[in-house]
Amino acid sequence: MHKKALAFALTALLSGQIHAEMTHADSVNAGKQKVASCVSCHGEHGNSTMEMFPKLAQQNAGYIINQLKVFKSGERKDPMMTTLAMSLTENDMVDIANYYADQKITGEHEEPLNTAEERTEHETMIKLGGDLYRNGDLKREVSACIACHGPHGEGNQPAGFPSLKSQHASYLVKALTDFKTGKRANHPENMMHMIAGKMTDAEIKAVAIRIATMKQEK
Ligand code: HEC
Ligand code: HEC
Repeated sequence: MHKKALAFALTALLSGQIHAEMTHADSVNAGKQKVASCVSCHGEHGNSTMEMFPKLAQQNAGYIINQLKVFKSGERKDPMMTTLAMSLTENDMVDIANYYADQKITGEHEEPLNTAEERTEHETMIKLGGDLYRNGDLKREVSACIACHGPHGEGNQPAGFPSLKSQHASYLVKALTDFKTGKRANHPENMMHMIAGKMTDAEIKAVAIRIATMKQEK
């Protein structure tokens, strides 16, 4: 194999973005066209405004590609996403993932806290959620989220761990509950099932509220 071709193949392999003869910018541009059918739910630039639809902006490309593959294969089940993913080729998935990874995520829209009780409850949740995120709970074998999802919820692109920062709290609660009950179990190591399975519903809510307030520090 030519040295150049080998270097290209290696880079593509390492970044998880297998695509023939296209620059990153070309792929992002192609992706921009291909997300036309996604905007109605995932929003402009992947910043969905509806709590039930996850934001995709700034999500790690490798993670997006993987999720689209498992929706397509039926390993991850969602009535809306399965049909959509069926129509995507592997190249479409790569372009779409590169496009979303390139967008900036907007801060989570926060509900106004009107009464003193609401403010106190919110602060308690943020404190509990922040503590779980940073330290986990060793006695109960709940691993610290920070180890895989990073200090600012940015995830870990090479490892394929998703970014969580500024994601809608309701979607995070749903995702964690689906891991806990085993409804979502497509990851070969299923680490999130082991973690979420040991968390109470109150802890899931608290950590989701905390993560939704995380913003990228640049
Ligand atoms: C009709 C609404 C709808 C449309 C249109 C839609 N999605 Fe989704 N999408 C969803 C829902 C709902 C989920 C969350 C599924 C769940 O809870 O497991 C989701 C989840 C995802 C995820 C996983 C996100 C994560 O954080 O794990 C990806 C990636 C995704 N969609 C990509 C796309 C792409 C690409 C398109 C366009 C080709 C698209 N979606 C169109 C509703 C939609
Ligand atoms: C050992 C590494 C690891 C640790 C620790 C970990 N996670 Fe995860 N997390 C993952 C991986 C891997 C995935 C992707 C799973 C998949 O592909 O189905 C994930 C997915 C998620 C998702 C779904 C994101 C989405 O967009 O759908 C949420 C929410 C989440 N983790 C929250 C947490 C929380 C909260 C904690 C701490 C209590 C935590 N994770 C600890 C590795 C980890």
